[in-house]
Amino acid sequence: MRILPALAAAIVIAAPAAAQTGKPAPILTAPEAKDAWTHAVPEVARVTHVDLNLDVDFAGKTLSGVATLDVLAAAGAKEIVLDVDDLDVISVTCPKGKPLPFAIGPRDKELGSALTVQLEGNKQILIRYKTRPGASALQWLAPELTAGKRKPYLFSQGQPINNRSWIPTQDSPGIRQTWSATLTVPAGFVAVMSGDRLDGEKGQAAPDGRRRFRFRMDKPVPPYLVAMAVGDLAFKATGKRSGVWTEPSMLDAAAHEVGDVEKMIDAAQALYGPYRWGRYDMLVLPPSFPYGGMENPTLTFLTPTIITGDRSNTDVVAHELAHSWSGNLVTNATWSDSWLNEGFTTYFENRIMEAVYGKERAAMYADLDWDGLQRDIRDAGGGDAATTRLHGDPGATFGQLDYFKGSTFLRTIEAAVGRAKWDAYLRAYFDRHAFQPQTTAGFLADLRANLIRGDKALEAKLELDRWAYRPGLPDNAVHVTSATLAAVDAKLAAFNAGGPASAVQPAGWATQQWLRFLNGLPRQQPPARLAELDGALGLSTSNNAYVRSAWAELAIANRYEPALPGIEEFVKRVGRGLLIYPIYKDLMAQGDWGKPIALRFYEGAKAGYHPNAAAGVAKIVGAE
Ligand code: BES
Ligand code: ZN
Repeated sequence: MRILPALAAAIVIAAPAAAQTGKPAPILTAPEAKDAWTHAVPEVARVTHVDLNLDVDFAGKTLSGVATLDVLAAAGAKEIVLDVDDLDVISVTCPKGKPLPFAIGPRDKELGSALTVQLEGNKQILIRYKTRPGASALQWLAPELTAGKRKPYLFSQGQPINNRSWIPTQDSPGIRQTWSATLTVPAGFVAVMSGDRLDGEKGQAAPDGRRRFRFRMDKPVPPYLVAMAVGDLAFKATGKRSGVWTEPSMLDAAAHEVGDVEKMIDAAQALYGPYRWGRYDMLVLPPSFPYGGMENPTLTFLTPTIITGDRSNTDVVAHELAHSWSGNLVTNATWSDSWLNEGFTTYFENRIMEAVYGKERAAMYADLDWDGLQRDIRDAGGGDAATTRLHGDPGATFGQLDYFKGSTFLRTIEAAVGRAKWDAYLRAYFDRHAFQPQTTAGFLADLRANLIRGDKALEAKLELDRWAYRPGLPDNAVHVTSATLAAVDAKLAAFNAGGPASAVQPAGWATQQWLRFLNGLPRQQPPARLAELDGALGLSTSNNAYVRSAWAELAIANRYEPALPGIEEFVKRVGRGLLIYPIYKDLMAQGDWGKPIALRFYEGAKAGYHPNAAAGVAKIVGAE
């Protein structure tokens, strides 16, 4: 890839300096850093700052206003290419108001369209636009889908490439941009975003009784990390630099559930260096939020399904917090290397859990990651399947292998070099690459230069290239086992040998123990045994969403109809992909019995799903 001269200078600037000096973060130019999921050509012209000034219209389900982009163009560059999807562009002008010629290319179903703007020498362009009600990043929730049931709600989900449906910019994880935003919302609503808030909790007065909220992110971030939500929101502190936003009726329960967060931040900083984002707040969303959590900087988004009263699902908080280093500070340059975000984070999450809750609790998670790894490789078609590679086509890694194989890789390195050396390396790695994109090859080169340092025996032992580029699981993989889960296995064996369900005695079980038990049951069970299990363990009525999902899978495998009403209630209420996709897949796998049920559930549930989850389920049930 040729680098045009004016920009070459910008590219070599080290990014830690970038965050402090206001100089733009670097763009990687190696072939493997080329992002197939963007239309942008950042070597020619790139966005360095995005300013949004948007009005939120719940009745029309649109955001409308102006995006002002700061542009850094190479000498002689005539145009800039942006990503847009489903946006109505009303005008593009220079700061003085003169219209600039622009064109919107054909729409690709996944990638959206290129918006090409003639710069005519300008360093700033203003795009006046409006989103459409179906924008893929945005869910506009009717009041019934909220906890309060009185006011509508809006939230965005950017990762991986949805934000182009509400922000016209270069939507690639390798093109970091600072941003600022003003959101104007109706009276009685509160807006939150993934950056510093410049106004108080209630914002400022705006015309017609509306409220205005301003935000700023002065560190360069990949655009998928710009996030917003608007609703009937309230705040409660959980510590000196952390707190929770959610609907008022859930505030106390949410704040209690995530009450260990300050300990987690302390633990994370002690491991891998300073938390560089200022505040760490969390937003607990309505149950249609399509993920367990999303690492939006300064404001992690969380599913309410983790609120069970016993802090047993706080691994999600540890995970999203860990992304403040792996993902948000050092970011996969393209989605082909998502394991650099998710695998590192799964490893780091486990270290935080160990520091806060002890070795055994962390071992449970690591052991379950191993189960997930084995399951994903099996479901991918075995260790030869190309989709079991860590670095591959963007989005082509099977299931959650980027999480499980990625974290197992790092655990294997840790075991080989020893924790002290590994932790020191990793801490320095985050410093060296702070606020920069990264590739698999870049990580391996850094590892060789700073940890292996020519140690031939170590190099041979680690099998780095095999881990990074080849399918399957290298045989040096480290498997962490848990004594607590071994005890669950013993109960499982007794039940499988014909023992009564009443002997299982799950009182006090953590989610991990439930999952080990339920997923370990042989798939074929007679109806009487299923009824016995449900009766003794309270599966159909459990308030633990993971238990409900795992129970649904077992019931569907046996076409056990008494469980269907509970499953239907669950998939209509919860929109978290990880918990509902398996249910739809299992129903589809049951042919003539299951397919009509899957379609019926989807038809009844889709109005309540985020566009991402709705598309995911539509694909599974063949309703696209
Ligand atoms: N960044 C992910 C969520 C994500 C992944 C969004 C891929 C879009 C595309 C987030 O950090 C995550 O991994 N969430 C997990 C949490 C879990 C592993 C603790 C989830 O949602 O289940
Ligand atoms: Zn993650």
